Amino acid sequence: MNKKAIGMFDSGCGGLTVLKKYMKLMPNEDFIYFGDTAHLPYGDKSPEKIIEYCEEIVKFLISKDVKMIIIACGTASATAYEYLKNKYDIEIRNIITPTASTLTDKNIGVIATKATIKSKAWKKAIHSFNPTANITSVACPLFVPIIEECLIENEGTSYFVKEYINKLNIKSSNISSIVLGCTHYPLLKQQIQNEVGANVRLIDIGEISAKDSLNYLIANDLQNTPEHIGTIELFASDDFESFKENAKNIGFTI
Ligand code: DGL
Repeated sequence: MNKKAIGMFDSGCGGLTVLKKYMKLMPNEDFIYFGDTAHLPYGDKSPEKIIEYCEEIVKFLISKDVKMIIIACGTASATAYEYLKNKYDIEIRNIITPTASTLTDKNIGVIATKATIKSKAWKKAIHSFNPTANITSVACPLFVPIIEECLIENEGTSYFVKEYINKLNIKSSNISSIVLGCTHYPLLKQQIQNEVGANVRLIDIGEISAKDSLNYLIANDLQNTPEHIGTIELFASDDFESFKENAKNIGFTI
């Protein structure tokens, strides 16, 4: 048993889609979430810069005495995870490996930020479990700004969803599953599903990550007590008011 909180971070509000899944699966856990709004978006930054930003957040979460840290950001998982895991003693988990380990499809699509696609992290991770999978990857750089600017319901959004999804060539590539490789993207899930049709499965990395972390807590006897009611504490590196507004739109009241 361990009553400390779980630390979690993203460049902004995207990781809250992951936090939601954790809260549902682990109602007895406390969470400390950090949105790096001062440096958003990560997707067009260099790996060096992303590592620099993430390291500051990891130090902040360690100063809050968390029991483990979840990188609730695809871009940070793709670029900074290895560095952070090797440098810090605390348990740090990325959101790519657990998802990749579940993918058995022959033809898989991955949509994510530019930095994530450039890193080839998804390709490497999926091929380590499923070596013959054909993977089609497409960067969708406009999705994060659309979400952070609260334009999800805007009629222009479906235009950009169509543009990016067309690049996957779902029919000719026979794609049966698409990984939403950025934690912001579940907020566009409905629009994406409308575009790809009901027969293509959209992979929810938050849910898989939550199950994976719960298994880790159980295996290491690190769960909070069953009678404890979990809490969340949110932090942002800039403009906490806008961050709070976004969080509210995703169903978090602070
Ligand atoms: N949620 C981040 C991810 O999963 C967004 C990246 C960004 O800030 O561009 O990749």
